[in-house]
Amino acid sequence: MPKDKFDEYVENLQKIIYEEEIKVYNERIVSLYHDPKNWGKPPEDEITISKTYEGPCGDTMSFFLKIKDKIIEKANFLTDGCGASVAAGCQTTLLIENRSLDDAEKLKQEDIDAALNGLPEDHKHCAELAVTTLKRAIDDYYILESLKK
Ligand code: FES
Repeated sequence: MPKDKFDEYVENLQKIIYEEEIKVYNERIVSLYHDPKNWGKPPEDEITISKTYEGPCGDTMSFFLKIKDKIIEKANFLTDGCGASVAAGCQTTLLIENRSLDDAEKLKQEDIDAALNGLPEDHKHCAELAVTTLKRAIDDYYILESLKK
């Protein structure tokens, strides 16, 4: 197949896959899944606390938080989970950046679900994975802080 024909074929295939994903999820989830902001582990000197947690589905999520004066200045994440978990982790980081630890602790699975315009029923737990990982990271932060005293 000539190169331009092959490129056209791949482009059409990607478009079809994208449209099918939107039918199953929604535009917000699919766009975050394909272009996840705050993805990846930052350099060590930019991490105040990190936490990895394995959810009941067997997938893991990691959060890397940079905290100053109880404000989350930067939040990054990684997951080996499904597309919905990528969107949920990403959405969580977007909701907590520049917010206080108190605000972040109050974040609920439903808040992430709502910000994602609704995860499919069989993927609601992906938001739970994100929230639980976040809460455990904050718990670890407070434990570390108390040890410093
Ligand atoms: Fe396990 Fe989405 S996080 S299926």
